[in-house]
Amino acid sequence: MKKTILTLGVTLTLGLILFSCGGGGDTKSTTINTLAPDAKPLSASDKGQVVFKRICSACHQADGKGLPNAFPPLAGSDYLLADKFRAVRQVIKGSSGKITVNGTEFNGVMPPQPLNDSDIANVLTYVYHSFGNSGPDVSPAEVKSVRDTIK
Ligand code: HEC
Repeated sequence: MKKTILTLGVTLTLGLILFSCGGGGDTKSTTINTLAPDAKPLSASDKGQVVFKRICSACHQADGKGLPNAFPPLAGSDYLLADKFRAVRQVIKGSSGKITVNGTEFNGVMPPQPLNDSDIANVLTYVYHSFGNSGPDVSPAEVKSVRDTIK
């Protein structure tokens, strides 16, 4: 009797293993596709939003409008929109000293941001397409090209 139950148990277990391997051989379907057939991959801007919320919003605020006398705005910033390579440099190196944004002078310190090329590309792409801005995309290769000139 015990033996029968054991055999049954082993057979069931083996069956389950085989079943969960898809009968063997079918490696095409991935878990992600099975669970969320219409899930889209995140865009550069979506990924950038995550970086922005985690890091930049602490100073430039969630709405990108900054804070008077402390943090310049990214929303509608003529400084940002004028030169994307300067913006990349700003994020890599930070800055201190006077900066004029939309006619208002700021004199603060932005620390260098220890982010990789993709994170910087994504966050700037996000900022360039958010808060009412309409600016360019920034690619990781462009960030690298700026990084290569700094050292
Ligand atoms: C600790 C606060 C702080 C953080 C975090 C920060 N910034 Fe800044 N940022 C500043 C300050 C202060 C200035 C002005 C610096 C100066 O006066 O030289 C500035 C200036 C800028 C400028 C140029 C001026 C403008 O408004 O267009 C850009 C672009 C910018 N930051 C983007 C970013 C991005 C993108 C991030 C996130 C990756 C970020 N900053 C994170 C404080 C911060």
